[in-house]
Amino acid sequence: MSDIRTPKVIETDLDAIATAEGRVVVIVPPNGKLDPAARRVNRLTKGALVRLTLTAEDDDDWAKSGTVKTLSYPAGMAAEYLDVLCVDRNASVVEARRIGGKLPVAKKKDAVLFALGKHRYAEQIVMGAMLRAYDFTEHKTAEVRDEGTGTITVMCTKHTEVAEKLEPMMAVVEGAHMTRDLVNEPANVLTTTEFAKRLADMKSLGLKVEVLDEPALEKLGMRTLLSVGQGSASPSKVVVMQWNGGKKGEAPLALVGKGVVFDTGGISLKPAGGMEDMTMDMGGAGVVAGTMRTLALRKAQANVVGLVGLVENMPSDRATRPGDVVKSMKGDTVEIINTDAEGRLVLCDVMWYAQEKYKPCGMIDLATLTGAIIIGLGHDNAGVFSNDEALCNAFLRAAKAEDEGAWRMPLGEGYDKLLKSRIADMKNIGGRAAGSVTAAQFLQRFVQDGMPWIHLDIAGVASVKSTTAYAPAGATGWGVAALNRLVTNMMEAE
Ligand code: BES
Ligand code: MN
Ligand code: ZN
Repeated sequence: MSDIRTPKVIETDLDAIATAEGRVVVIVPPNGKLDPAARRVNRLTKGALVRLTLTAEDDDDWAKSGTVKTLSYPAGMAAEYLDVLCVDRNASVVEARRIGGKLPVAKKKDAVLFALGKHRYAEQIVMGAMLRAYDFTEHKTAEVRDEGTGTITVMCTKHTEVAEKLEPMMAVVEGAHMTRDLVNEPANVLTTTEFAKRLADMKSLGLKVEVLDEPALEKLGMRTLLSVGQGSASPSKVVVMQWNGGKKGEAPLALVGKGVVFDTGGISLKPAGGMEDMTMDMGGAGVVAGTMRTLALRKAQANVVGLVGLVENMPSDRATRPGDVVKSMKGDTVEIINTDAEGRLVLCDVMWYAQEKYKPCGMIDLATLTGAIIIGLGHDNAGVFSNDEALCNAFLRAAKAEDEGAWRMPLGEGYDKLLKSRIADMKNIGGRAAGSVTAAQFLQRFVQDGMPWIHLDIAGVASVKSTTAYAPAGATGWGVAALNRLVTNMMEAE
């Protein structure tokens, strides 16, 4: 599990490089012009830094920007490892962050000294390394447990500036790591009840957290949500997290997350192969939780309300049958053709409740909603659907700045027609064609007139099979950084 150690940023004292234990990280530019920290390391190691960084000996050919080389037990230093990062002076924010993400920092929580000189994006290098320094070892009995004793020190010529920038960035790292912990957790551990408990624990950060149980949801008329959970022994819940750091009375931004703790498909049962991946079907709720944590940790000056629908989609004698008709909180009736298209049934009630109760200035829902979005976009981009140009573009810009892939998809009347039902107001599926779009179209029927709205289909990006630039295989935490930045840009800018 994650345990973020906030880096301590200190004034440059080159002597610390010789005596630092654990890892020492230095930067060299691809043209070989060493900064004072790298020069000191080179002198201490009798030229080992230069030899390491030249691609061929007796050559002037320096490693390219983005190369990371590691020397174990460098002679002349107390460190266990010396990491030399080749970073171009003009590297962009994203390049700097990605290079940081290549550092093999802290599986076991060793001490790290970043001797970053005066790189203009020094803080991004640290951010990348901190995002990547994650492992989910909760259920490995033999693994040496992280003790959390290591320190992270950033030695930087621009230390005050870097310290100031790093503080809110570490809140993002901690939020993303929380999302990963939730998404990686198996479904027998992260039940709806356990999920709600972990969210309620965030009250200690100053969040207002309310848990609505089945009787409360019944009373509100959330029948489509309840129809998904009714086959499971775990009770359905809606959890509302409020962060009110903005002006009193100012309409909040609403974040709504799909929290299907396990999706068997229900009576429309999924095939056995790969079904274990459906532990991540609460990914949308995980991102909402992680984002609320980030906002609380950095005491964001904005009003944001996060709502998650927590259910388990199970087949049983009480489960919804294909062909059943249920009434949503809005009042529209839905013919459930396929019980595996359950995410939209959860979201539509929570979205309606969010709008009725909190009158938000905008609404963003996140869901691992369709396999079709993986066919369309793979694992590099989430699908972005929106009815509002300004909000949508603001989100796309925020995602790009945070290096989180997001690609806009269409909406339109033609797709909406595919949801026509013979006996109810709509069906819950539209057929094989444009499966992600008809899912979004279903959700849009529950967006109130004039409400700026974005739907993010994160089925392809929430959890992946191989390592990414910022995360080991498994949950990525995609979206926490982008949503946090969107809040900053849209609601906190003076
Ligand atoms: N949770 C799934 C979507 C999903 C698939 C997420 C793969 C992550 C990886 C969703 O509930 C689902 O089953 N969708 C169906 C919809 C279909 C029945 C219209 C799908 O995509 O097959
Ligand atoms: Mn499903
Ligand atoms: Zn699902």
